[in-house]
Amino acid sequence: MKKKSAIMPVLLMAVSLVAVISLVFLFTGTNVKNEEAAPPTGNENSDENATESTDGVIAHNPPSLDDVPEGPEGEAILRGYELTNDTSNVLRAEAASVEDGIARVNGLSCTSCHAGAGMDETVSSMVGVSAVYPMYIGRSGQMVTLEERINGCMVRSMNGQKFAADDEDLDAMVAYLTYISEGIPVGADIPWRHQNNMEDVPTPSVEDGEALYAQSCIACHAGDGAGIGSNTGPALWGEESFNDGAGIARISKMAGYIQKNMPVGAADSLTDQEAADLAAFILMQDRPEWANHDKDWPNGGRPNDIMTKDVRDQLKDGSMTWDEVLSKN
Ligand code: HEC
Ligand code: HEC
Repeated sequence: MKKKSAIMPVLLMAVSLVAVISLVFLFTGTNVKNEEAAPPTGNENSDENATESTDGVIAHNPPSLDDVPEGPEGEAILRGYELTNDTSNVLRAEAASVEDGIARVNGLSCTSCHAGAGMDETVSSMVGVSAVYPMYIGRSGQMVTLEERINGCMVRSMNGQKFAADDEDLDAMVAYLTYISEGIPVGADIPWRHQNNMEDVPTPSVEDGEALYAQSCIACHAGDGAGIGSNTGPALWGEESFNDGAGIARISKMAGYIQKNMPVGAADSLTDQEAADLAAFILMQDRPEWANHDKDWPNGGRPNDIMTKDVRDQLKDGSMTWDEVLSKN
């Protein structure tokens, strides 16, 4: 009798421990599985699938750059910050020749779209990215690492060249992005990610967009779209801007970005119609072309609203309508 009653609590404890451990495995196991198996959904937003939700709201609170550790790790973080905040100037200054610099990167910085070097909560913040990559991306049709995602913006948004896999600058950017993601749990559902998208874009008027541009945007982005500086008014079209393979070359993303963030100082002041008109006007202008459109979306789900040269030409000659561009595929 004595023996039995001593064993019972121990047994109970062992059983509950096993239960807790298997629950933990069950949950983490499910997380990993779902993310890996996430299929291309084929809708407008299928380039990046949401990560698993976790309980509780996550705060956007990146650590200060004043607190980076001493030594090589801290140096890498600060180098990564420079590269992110002043991409074009840093990479072009260090290129072997002016021509090499121009081939390496356009006139933008990551900050041109990810304001504050990715630390501004509302303007495509990059806080938390190291906690959600690798992830499945429909445009690539595969799991993509953070390094590959950075290179995705290098060859599209920056209309430039990839970092080699062993480039120290790539490591520095990852070190920086990991630093600003401190405290964000792996696989977290991050509320500030991917907010710059307009679900239902109204049929735009390029003419109205042009008039509004002259009124509200020209002071910082210039009449020819070339802008006044990568972090003060970046190039919206032309040779120094993003190519037509960039995410923001889709009218749904451009309209969403404009409405949520522009004009600087008066975000959220434009109606859906105004943001759509502006997006249409900007994306009807000439810009560098992405050479590999045919390799994107290998598993299907290619959106219709990518503003390639071909689409622009067809809109101009009337063989395509805006409603076709905006139709869900
Ligand atoms: C012309 C605009 C533009 C520029 C410049 C740009 N990006 Fe992006 N980037 C985007 C858009 C649009 C997305 C998609 C996110 C969204 O829909 O909000 C994105 C996504 C990302 C993501 C994934 C974010 C996530 O939460 O999944 C990373 C990482 C990233 N960019 C890094 C960079 C880096 C590093 C640079 C500079 C070398 C850069 N980007 C320059 C527009 C840009
Ligand atoms: C006061 C200056 C200012 C005004 C006015 C302004 N912008 Fe911007 N714009 C910026 C800055 C600075 C950035 C870089 C991101 C940031 O800091 O938010 C930017 C970024 C952008 C981007 C993404 C980067 C790129 O190169 O494509 C777009 C698109 C854009 N602005 C469109 C507009 C439109 C449309 C208007 C008019 C409604 C406008 N902006 C008015 C300063 C301005």
